[in-house]
Amino acid sequence: MIIALANQKGGVGKTTTALNLAAALAESGRSVLLIDADPQANLSAGLNISSEAPTVYDLLTEDARISETIRQTPYEGLHIVPSVLDLAAMELSLAKAPDTECLLRVLKPVKDDFDYIMIDCPPYLGQLTVAALRAGDGVLVPMVPSVWAIAGLGKLLEAIETTGSRLLGVVLTQYDRRTAVSADMWNNLVKAELPLFRTRIPKRVAAEYAAIARVPVLAYEPDGALARAYRRLAKEVEELA
Ligand SMILES: Nc1ncnc2c1ncn2[C@@H]1O[C@H](COP(=O)(O)OP(=O)(O)OP(=O)(O)O)[C@@H](O)[C@H]1O
Ligand SMILES: [Mg+2]
Repeated sequence: MIIALANQKGGVGKTTTALNLAAALAESGRSVLLIDADPQANLSAGLNISSEAPTVYDLLTEDARISETIRQTPYEGLHIVPSVLDLAAMELSLAKAPDTECLLRVLKPVKDDFDYIMIDCPPYLGQLTVAALRAGDGVLVPMVPSVWAIAGLGKLLEAIETTGSRLLGVVLTQYDRRTAVSADMWNNLVKAELPLFRTRIPKRVAAEYAAIARVPVLAYEPDGALARAYRRLAKEVEELA
């Protein structure tokens, strides 16, 4: 199953969720391939994987085959195709010559080699995000409990529909159960009758510390609230298949 993690709003937990959901799935014995489709390359950095070629950029320019770009991470069952800042140029060339199936095409040869392929998208609804939506069997939308969070959701849902994908679910991250805004956001999402993951990912500084240490939070603090939440989310994702 190919899952795109998308939300054009920045800093909502796309990368943290891709990394830790993948780590939780790998921990439960699944084979997972992460595709870092964001020129910021935060996902690659979060796993301490270098942006040296060949990366997803070489893959999309057809200078490398996917098998050459896949790196084993220190975690069993967890692999990644890293990104690099140069990928930003791909956004421009795709704008000139749109190719919404570029990711779908390059992932096809390895689709059956992994239980899950998860694509981390950049924070804008550009060519790379559209290609990721098109490649995905479904889309997971991380969202934070803040007043502007829902504003761009309509456009994203439209793009998901246009690309022929489907919304697997919204996942509320950076959830703080002491604040009314978190509870309100949850209630609004429930009322909206959108597909919604039951697991709320709590707001914890361990997310930052793990990122600084360049390891998944499941390795940084295996028994912490954040790691446990991501394991629950992984179970929900496994139930989808
Ligand atoms: N559950 C959490 N609790 C506290 N901090 C978090 C949590 N999840 C993510 N963060 C922090 O919030 C910031 C944004 O998270 P992340 O990079 O995953 O978002 P993103 O949507 O991928 O961002 P971008 O849009 O820039 O790609 C990071 O500094 C991350 O460490
Ligand atoms: Mg990110």
